[in-house]
Amino acid sequence: MFRRSNSSSRILNISSRLGSINKMKNPTMKEMLLSENLSEEQIEGMVNTFLENVKKGTWKSQGWPEIWTDYAVSKLAINAYSRVLARRYKDCGICVNCFCPGFTQTSMTRGKGTHTAADAAEVGARLALLPPHELQTGKFYIGFSPGIVSKL
Ligand SMILES: NC(=O)c1ccc[n+]([C@@H]2O[C@H](COP(=O)([O-])OP(=O)(O)OC[C@H]3O[C@@H](n4cnc5c(N)ncnc54)[C@H](OP(=O)(O)O)[C@@H]3O)[C@@H](O)[C@H]2O)c1
Repeated sequence: MFRRSNSSSRILNISSRLGSINKMKNPTMKEMLLSENLSEEQIEGMVNTFLENVKKGTWKSQGWPEIWTDYAVSKLAINAYSRVLARRYKDCGICVNCFCPGFTQTSMTRGKGTHTAADAAEVGARLALLPPHELQTGKFYIGFSPGIVSKL
């Protein structure tokens, strides 16, 4: 359990632009993910459908993200879940956002990347600690340009 802040509580999920909605080509899934009434059950359903497609060997033709597919589906799910939480807690003083650190030199990238993990952590920490008057909810922050922010 996290302690609620007196002003605004915040959740910042570390995500990736590989999980952006435009990476999903399956029209039914896309429509569901963009629905105002999206639920946790539907997100779980999406992930289970992906796993079924993988088991059956049909995933390539089903419109799932093409790059780093399994990773991208996990990030689609975290983005979608963040969207659900942001809507649910909008009027309760809880802000829920996602942050993509960009191509960062870590174990995941075998040390490749345009910047260090410390640089990415600094941006993430700044976003996590935004003053209440700058705090938004349901947003997707990308990399190192503080101006690049889109709807989740
Ligand atoms: N690096 C990039 O270019 C990049 C780009 C976009 C987004 N991201 C996101 O940034 C975040 C950090 O990635 P990274 O590049 O730092 O990856 P990483 O080098 O692979 O580090 C991942 C960290 O997560 C921990 N971890 C993995 N599974 C876990 C589990 N089940 N429970 C607890 N800890 C677990 C690992 O712990 P151990 O060391 O103990 O295994 C490791 O410390 C991830 O969410 C990633 O998707 C990274």
